Amino acid sequence: MTDKLWGGRFTGKAAEWVDEFGASIPFDYKLAAEDIEGSLAHSKMLGKQGILSQDEVDQIQKGLLEIEQELNDGELKFSIANEDIHLNIESILTKKIGAVAGKLHTARSRNDQVATDFHLWMKHRLPRVLNELTELQKTLVSLADQNADVIMPGYTHLQHAQPITYGHYLLAYFEMFQRDYERFEFNRKHTDILPLGAAALAGTTFPIDQQFVAEELGFDKIYHNSLDAVSDRDFALEFLSNASILMMHLSRMAEELILWGTYEFNYIELDDTFSTGSSIMPQKKNADFAELVRGKTGRVYGGLMGLLTTMKAIPLAYNKDMQEDKEAAFDVMDTILASINVFNGMLATLTVHKERMSTATENDFSNATELADYLASKGIPFRQAHAIVGELVLKGIQTQTTLTQMPLAELKQASAQIEDDVYEVLKSKVAVERRTSIGGTAISNVKKEVERDYKIIANR
Ligand code: ARG
Repeated sequence: MTDKLWGGRFTGKAAEWVDEFGASIPFDYKLAAEDIEGSLAHSKMLGKQGILSQDEVDQIQKGLLEIEQELNDGELKFSIANEDIHLNIESILTKKIGAVAGKLHTARSRNDQVATDFHLWMKHRLPRVLNELTELQKTLVSLADQNADVIMPGYTHLQHAQPITYGHYLLAYFEMFQRDYERFEFNRKHTDILPLGAAALAGTTFPIDQQFVAEELGFDKIYHNSLDAVSDRDFALEFLSNASILMMHLSRMAEELILWGTYEFNYIELDDTFSTGSSIMPQKKNADFAELVRGKTGRVYGGLMGLLTTMKAIPLAYNKDMQEDKEAAFDVMDTILASINVFNGMLATLTVHKERMSTATENDFSNATELADYLASKGIPFRQAHAIVGELVLKGIQTQTTLTQMPLAELKQASAQIEDDVYEVLKSKVAVERRTSIGGTAISNVKKEVERDYKIIANR
């Protein structure tokens, strides 16, 4: 027998560096609070079911609460020799209360224990993600409210396409973060299931009460298959996947803010508090925080790809590979909470150059579709109208004249159907105001959506 908690059938003692390779305590110490929480509920249940005596349960609970206090006071010390958080806590408990500590592991395995800890960890933190997302959405909707009528170019292929409003642009991201919110809510459902009671893989012969433990720990459901209970990491994969999609959204917007803050665009200026300078070029004001959010998207995707790959060929049930599930989730949780928060601050404080945004739609051809639609509404087949306007645009580019600057006689040469009322139709603001189809950029639409979005948030 070796001195490990599982050392009975062993005679050979592993070298320290081998222990180090196998240990998870360098990172799963982060599950300490959840491990204690799970053990408190489990031991209480063992007492209630008469599996342990009340006196034994009292000793275990007292010891666990002391450990919890030491954890909160930052006094708890863990060792690599004890491999992971579960064995570390059991060993600390043994030092405190003696052999009775060994009864805590009755009707339980580290396999259902680690799964329970990880579920609890995620369950405690998902509400924070939802809160941060709500804060970000609040900022977006109130900015959209203030900027519902700020005209700017809408882009496709990063080329001026059709005029939109800044408010409409902001609400596009509101919608994306709304879907993110819903995905994380769904993620919470799959996290809210108790694995404890599955034991190593097959369930247990002890007369346990899983319902009681679920209620103690605040779980909504219990796994209905013990093999699945200890092997399932879908809730972590869903989290990483949701986080990846969220970061993709943040990163797209970050890219736009970076671009829009350049000399060439000059649509916005980030606040000093969300910008940095250069150590050599005195004039510089860099969008470091937006760039970092964009950059951190990579490590979040990495977390998802890592765990997907780890899980892909693991036969049922628990295999040690699954110890690799935690670090990415821990890192991604910190990363997304910080990224949403920074992004929110950055958005709320940036200055919008409204004039510059709207004039950018005045010297371009982003009203070409208006003219084509104008002709189509007069009965000219749209494809033909498209060709007529295309030729006018070409002429305009060659002579450096916008459609609005072309005299009526010249427009009439292209199509006799064009009348004096065309100049009104060609205005960006009119182009925006006329886009009243559901979800269109019309100012009245944006205002309606703003009201709807305020309600979505108020109803949470
Ligand atoms: N440290 C392990 C993990 O994180 C705990 C479960 C160990 N179970 C086992 N049978 N080796 O996955």
